[in-house]
Amino acid sequence: SPLHDLLVNLPKCEHHVHLEGTLSPSLLFSLAAKNNIVLRDPSSPAPATTSPNGGEEGEAFTSPAHLAARYANFSSLDDFLAYYYVGFSVLRDADDFEALTYEYLVRAAQDNVRHAEVFFDPQGHLPRGVSVEVVMEGFGRAVRRAEAEGLGISVLLIPCLLRHLPVEHSAQVFDSLVRDGHFASGALSGLGLCSTEIDRPPELYRAIFERAKEHGTAHAGEEGPPAYIASALSELSVSRIDHGVRAAQSAELLALLAAQKILLTVCPLSNLALRGVQRVADVPIRAFIDAGVRFSINSDDPAYFGGYILDNYCAVQEAFGLSVGEWEGIARAAVEGSWCVEGRKGEIL
Ligand code: ADE
Ligand code: ZN
Repeated sequence: SPLHDLLVNLPKCEHHVHLEGTLSPSLLFSLAAKNNIVLRDPSSPAPATTSPNGGEEGEAFTSPAHLAARYANFSSLDDFLAYYYVGFSVLRDADDFEALTYEYLVRAAQDNVRHAEVFFDPQGHLPRGVSVEVVMEGFGRAVRRAEAEGLGISVLLIPCLLRHLPVEHSAQVFDSLVRDGHFASGALSGLGLCSTEIDRPPELYRAIFERAKEHGTAHAGEEGPPAYIASALSELSVSRIDHGVRAAQSAELLALLAAQKILLTVCPLSNLALRGVQRVADVPIRAFIDAGVRFSINSDDPAYFGGYILDNYCAVQEAFGLSVGEWEGIARAAVEGSWCVEGRKGEIL
């Protein structure tokens, strides 16, 4: 497309990428080998004759290509999440998180990402005995290495609460992050909310978000109704909404998002992969622009959804044919909606 060079060169901010969602099939396999872990398909039981557990365990994945083929065919958010959480099993020590983070930062720098706010799921690692300190140590080493190599990306790390687990578990983990001073030290920035959405309305997390002194954000309106977006705003006082694509079903909600200058962190290839839309053209980009709703374009779980951030920009351009001015507006909204210090915003723009 004629704007391809412009899309490549736009200085990008990524606000919606899950660290664990950047685990490529090749790194997943190499860490599985290192850590002696057998990868099993969560949705395909092995034949009883070959499984010592009488067919209760899934068929083993035999290669990165075998995994990638399954990734090409998710049916829903929860179908994807089952594979995403299998990927967690290979992440064991700080070296693993360093490798994961470094691989993402190098890949993001290729797409001219200048600032990345990266989600991770502490509750998804604790059951294997992997503490947030282990995640933070590996992450920090990768960021320092990227800095030393001049990659030019500033980075924030944002813990997300997992909605498929009991609210009480989220409350305990959030408590421990506060108690251990990780927000006060600046090692962690903000608070997010993700995983299964249907039947897990934002208001369940009101008491926790009330105690989050930092920025808040919540996945809402990905599979869930517009009412969940409204609830995340009114009950959780978030300043951003992750996805938010279902806001387009309500003119009133679009007006509210525009008036409150809420940033929607939209992930078109994710919505396509998880069947929230049938085509990228069905992501309500034009409706957001027309309503004056701010949004950024992001990759979500790029190792699972077949594209990194530039691929998402290109998919949007192919579907909508935006103007140079509209792209500059998107890039500006992304910088302004970032949680970095003001001085850094000036450097990026
Ligand atoms: N965790 C990782 N990716 C997610 C998504 N797209 N929606 C909800 N939770 C997630
Ligand atoms: Zn997400």
